[in-house]
Amino acid sequence: MALEQEGVQLSEAQIAVHWKEEEYYFPPAKFIAQANMADPSVFERFSEQNFPECFREYAELLTWDKYWHTTLDSSKPPFWRWFVGGKLNACYNCVDRHLQKYRNKAAFIWVPEPEEEDTKVITYQELYIRVNEFAALLQDVCGLKAGDRITLHMPMVPELPVAMLACARLGVIHSVVFGGFSGQACGERMVDSGSHILVTIDAYSRNGELLDHKLKADQAVEYVEKNGVKVDKVLVWRRYPGKYSSPTPMVDGRDVFVDELLKNYRGASVAPVSMPAEAPLFLMYTSGTTARPKGCQHSTGGYLSYVAGTSKYYQDIHPEDTYWCFADIGWITGHSYIVYGPLALAATSVMYEGVPLYPDPGRPWRIAERLNVNIFHTAPTTIRMLRKAGPDEPSKYNYHFKHMTTVGEPIEPEVWRWYYHVVGKGEAVIVDTWWQTENGGFLGSTLPALHPMKPGSCGPGVLGVYPVIYDELGNEIPKGSGRAGNICIRNPWPGIMQTVWGQPERFVQIYYAKYCRNPQSTDWRDWPYFAGDGAVQAADGYFRILGRVDDVINVAGHRLGTKELESAALTVEEVAEAAAVPVMDELRGRAVEMYIALKPGYSPSQEIEDKVRGAIETIIGKIARPKNVWIVPDMPKTRSGKIMRRVVAGISNFMSPGDITTLANPEIVETIRTQVQAAKLSRGELPRQLSPQELEEIGRYGQVG
Ligand code: PRX
Repeated sequence: MALEQEGVQLSEAQIAVHWKEEEYYFPPAKFIAQANMADPSVFERFSEQNFPECFREYAELLTWDKYWHTTLDSSKPPFWRWFVGGKLNACYNCVDRHLQKYRNKAAFIWVPEPEEEDTKVITYQELYIRVNEFAALLQDVCGLKAGDRITLHMPMVPELPVAMLACARLGVIHSVVFGGFSGQACGERMVDSGSHILVTIDAYSRNGELLDHKLKADQAVEYVEKNGVKVDKVLVWRRYPGKYSSPTPMVDGRDVFVDELLKNYRGASVAPVSMPAEAPLFLMYTSGTTARPKGCQHSTGGYLSYVAGTSKYYQDIHPEDTYWCFADIGWITGHSYIVYGPLALAATSVMYEGVPLYPDPGRPWRIAERLNVNIFHTAPTTIRMLRKAGPDEPSKYNYHFKHMTTVGEPIEPEVWRWYYHVVGKGEAVIVDTWWQTENGGFLGSTLPALHPMKPGSCGPGVLGVYPVIYDELGNEIPKGSGRAGNICIRNPWPGIMQTVWGQPERFVQIYYAKYCRNPQSTDWRDWPYFAGDGAVQAADGYFRILGRVDDVINVAGHRLGTKELESAALTVEEVAEAAAVPVMDELRGRAVEMYIALKPGYSPSQEIEDKVRGAIETIIGKIARPKNVWIVPDMPKTRSGKIMRRVVAGISNFMSPGDITTLANPEIVETIRTQVQAAKLSRGELPRQLSPQELEEIGRYGQVG
């Protein structure tokens, strides 16, 4: 078959990546004239000589109850402590302090998915009232106090940021679980964080359907209690207050309707608790190389300073702007750039409940037109989807963006150009912001009034962040060499997570062990942060991110661990072995394919394929649903019995499976290839030309075992 592609022997991060250098695009004069940061002296202020004190500039955007005495304490690396001695409250900074000037300005504008339902405006005053009332309820009904954990499993409704800010007011650590995750996934995170309270909602609208969400709360509690942890209360908001929209019954004594209880707290006020800068503000779980998700613990002072600073300089948010980050609060992007960053700057932040294409691909542009949105922020997946379904839609609507963001995945230059010319109408700057759940805020981006844009590249390190690319041995790969390697950050920054909740040794191991020069050293220069992404740096210093170098698949901007997927598949009785691999997907960037070998005595069937899909959906959630499940006679294995994911990943992507001479069973490769590729062709999944970075990514998928 002439279906395979050449050049696949690229398993090392050191390969040379060849692509055309893209041309620069320059920010419009109109943007520069109004930008929050257009003064090039900022680069000097944030230069390495001025580190770490440069970050005072971000911290001073906040209101502190007590000023800090030490900007960075690096005495116990890599457990950095920022703004030590300082005290503040995150909710006060996002709400109370804006009342004097902006009391009746919109804090959130919420757009429900059904277009016939009215948009809701929540002013800073209204937000203040709601947050206080809910904080009083949390204190009273749940007995929560500073340092306790609580889990919020909610979709994109305004009650979610209300609940988050109420927690922040009390110093309670919130752990928001993405609404699309399954009940069991929520339960696992509750157990890990030690939460005894779950906040949920009865239902929400998605793609025109009112989904039952309360069911997931019951499944979560069942999982938690099976694991020996008691759930004290399930607080259930109602999508339509006063009307229960879920078929799942309430459980007496455990489940309560928030809208009913709130009646007892009308006008209640709760003083914001003054928290040390180092107190954790929230946990956000993410996937890595093991089956167990890790709880990234973010601080109050460092995190809030960092998201306020980056929202101001990189998102260019002014209080007069209408800013729409079209992401989900259940991910870090939403925490940092829908809630905490914009609110710290008194912005008007738009929240949309639904999916991009509902009821048609003009929807986002109608929202932008109606609300006069001027800053728009989303992920390449959404951009690709809108480009495919409605390439000419933006021109039909009268909106004007000054600024747009892309985040979460590499963006193809041709998709970038559509975003720029069609969505942005050639009037808006674009920032391509590279960062991760662990980082709190941006790591790589252009500073929009001061740097030109280059499609497909995020730009240089952001202010005060000094990236470097290392090869496997820790040698620096020089810029302009065309060679890829592991992108690392040489220094700590205020938004970096503090630790993995309950597992400090994993924090050190995952992010710092690889390139630490001396584990005894207390000099931050000896502790580069390993991001887990491959990258190349062009001669102009701009980074192009190639994707994960660990066992993580980035599906539509969501991180899924291959081990998590494989362990879910292994819960199916008939399954003996499982391997999860990424397959290039036109819309979602990557999709998941599962390879399954059965236990003796079982033969392949549609039923087993469905069980694997079902198990993944139940244990992780619908977002992880594999595109294909291939039940194969055997897995390609090394002589020591490890499954070679790279080989099946190659087959799934119509690439050469690479070197198979080290396999114990090389003959199986051709059998699998014929089976899988014939089935793909009959399903209309045709091979396509892969880019150099896609080839590189497939080539590096590791072994299972
Ligand atoms: O591989 C990088 C990719 O997304 C990963 C982080 O995923 P998550 O923790 O879910 O956070 C997503 C939103 C911050 C990174 O390791 N990634 C993120 N932003 C970009 C990106 N890849 C290329 N370009 C980006 N702008």
